[in-house]
Amino acid sequence: MSVRRLAEPEFQPADFAFNKANAAAAKKWIAKYPKGRQQSAIIPLLMLAQDQEGWVTKAAIESVCDMLDMPYIRGLEVATFYTQYQLKPVGTRAHIQVCGTTPCMLRGAGELMDVCRSKIHPEQFHTNEDGTLSWEEVECLGACVNAPMIMVFKDTYEDLTPERLAEIIDAFEAGKGDTIEAGPQIDRFYSAPQGGFTSLADEKAVLKSTRAKATGVAKAAQVPPSKAARHKTDAAETNEAVQSPSPVKASAKAEKAAGTAKPSLDHKDRPKGIDKPTAVDDLKLISGIGPKNEAILHELGIYTFAQVASWKKAERGWVDAYLNFHGRIEREDWVKQAKALAKGGVAEYTRVFGKKPV
Ligand code: FES
Repeated sequence: MSVRRLAEPEFQPADFAFNKANAAAAKKWIAKYPKGRQQSAIIPLLMLAQDQEGWVTKAAIESVCDMLDMPYIRGLEVATFYTQYQLKPVGTRAHIQVCGTTPCMLRGAGELMDVCRSKIHPEQFHTNEDGTLSWEEVECLGACVNAPMIMVFKDTYEDLTPERLAEIIDAFEAGKGDTIEAGPQIDRFYSAPQGGFTSLADEKAVLKSTRAKATGVAKAAQVPPSKAARHKTDAAETNEAVQSPSPVKASAKAEKAAGTAKPSLDHKDRPKGIDKPTAVDDLKLISGIGPKNEAILHELGIYTFAQVASWKKAERGWVDAYLNFHGRIEREDWVKQAKALAKGGVAEYTRVFGKKPV
């Protein structure tokens, strides 16, 4: 942890006052907190002061404390604790904060600091000759998955190599920092695995589908059908939707509302359903089928391993549109699993896949 002290007296300006825009912004921040809790606005007010001055001066801390009617020591505690506040003048174009906590250190933060030493200044908290750049080591900035990383003002730059950091520093020094896209600097989507999703690969569809279903079911549960709707709707179906929504109908309703309607139940690709037999196979033995998907399959007349084993591509596509979490039929090869289970139950499954079904 770096030692955080106020800048030496020779750097400290004699006084501080918010400019007009920031004074109005400060007023708004203070008004956001409940009566008697206005001191909670210290964090955003100190940020405003830093945005205005480039760093947090002693006069600014005291001025903010006066505004919030709090002892100076409380303001000093906050300002010296959080590394988001710069307590000394920093580079005018970039102040680079290098995370030096364990995950980043293990992934090369030491080399990143060497780059800062050679390109900016051998010691942290010193600006380069032109006063445009400065750097410091800080504790974890919360992007450990994408270590090693740096923060420049409010943006993070992650998955760094020394070479990439050197390019970023050069861009800021040239006044072109805004041309560098913040976030991961490699083929990674936010903090997803490098190179692309390895699970829930169809996540957009999952999110859309689950949200639509949640909305649809909630609406079905809350809004009683109008008289007109009752005239048009089969009474038994309406009651079912309101009191005990069937997975297939509720899902279809939600998808319709979301504009992502499923293929019709009469579609030619629908696999042949059967009436519930006396002996129903436990479809949950197939990896990817849980209680919810099993209930959906039952609604569609699918009760046996043999049925699943017989699905052709088009039929798999049709069923997939009705399931929670699309893409699982292919990804987890339900047909192969069902073939093994239909042929010899758990023993055959274990022989084929080298493990028991879970
Ligand atoms: S350890 Fe570096 S961001 Fe958390």
